[in-house]
Amino acid sequence: MKHPILTAPTPDRAATPSGLSSLAGRSVLSLCDLSATEIRAVLDLAKSLKRDYAPWRTAMSQRSAVLLFEKPSLRTRVSFEIGIAKLGGAMVFLDHQNNPIGERETVSDYGRNLERWTDCLVARVYRHATLEALRNATRVPVINALSELCHPCQILADALTLEEHGVDLASMRLAWLGDGNNVCHSLIELTAIFGGSITVITPRGYEPCSKVVGQAQAAAAATGARISLTNDPAAVRGADAVYTDTWVSMGQQKDAAKLAAMQALQVNADLMRTAGSHTLFMHCLPAHRGEEVTDEVIDSNRSVVFDQAENRMHAQNALLLLVLGLA
Ligand code: CP
Ligand code: NVA
Repeated sequence: MKHPILTAPTPDRAATPSGLSSLAGRSVLSLCDLSATEIRAVLDLAKSLKRDYAPWRTAMSQRSAVLLFEKPSLRTRVSFEIGIAKLGGAMVFLDHQNNPIGERETVSDYGRNLERWTDCLVARVYRHATLEALRNATRVPVINALSELCHPCQILADALTLEEHGVDLASMRLAWLGDGNNVCHSLIELTAIFGGSITVITPRGYEPCSKVVGQAQAAAAATGARISLTNDPAAVRGADAVYTDTWVSMGQQKDAAKLAAMQALQVNADLMRTAGSHTLFMHCLPAHRGEEVTDEVIDSNRSVVFDQAENRMHAQNALLLLVLGLA
């Protein structure tokens, strides 16, 4: 049967596809807030949007989102702002300098004001607890645009990118190299939800959060996913994609010992040769060329980093339409 989301919606949205309303009104703080079916719906709608925005040009008319960013951003900010404009919606961007969350009033009061004007909050925060406080205080959906714990919007775009490059999420073999950070956590969660495998390769002491790994392993019991941790870069062998990220995330101090420990995990031509001739290179960006990745890898034809960046907009727009109950 043709997936309902692939049916072009009528301009008045009368043809709301059945089975997808489960996301309406929901907050998405991590991928664990979504089922495999719901992620599938986001990805299918994202593909449909990417093919043609015309049927959705006014979908967000009279709707808005407030973007609250405590940290810098290029991709996330621009892809949300332009994306919302493509759907006919309005948005307001609040930065940390002028509108620090939780400083002039509590996070809860901040959210309870905003919900009176807007339909959705998109927040990039230092502390994941700030997102939880916003979600708990407000009646509008809250979308995590990156916290120190996870980056679900990034990984939705990455799932779309993997599929576009022929990788099946249920049987994918991923290798993560570097710091066991927020992006790594969301990639582990994606794998646990769909049932592929991920090998997380970090130096000792920089492994992903044990709670995230434990929860993912519990979910993996149902899906057959395999999540393994190692310190050996040779474990990239046979991966469909090698994924790395900055060694120092926003909000972290530069630490000489950490940078020294990471050197052995640089993604360079030798490492990609070890991985295999078909292996894709992925990075959420911004990249630190010469540190976690060399120019020859990020600029090679196996690098899909700008596809990932483009897909941020399509995946986020699909998520917005679903949580706003517009698709
Ligand atoms: N990948 C990503 O989230 O990029 P920005 O920090 O530029 O938003
Ligand atoms: N781990 C990085 C991701 C940036 C998109 C950070 O949190 O800074």
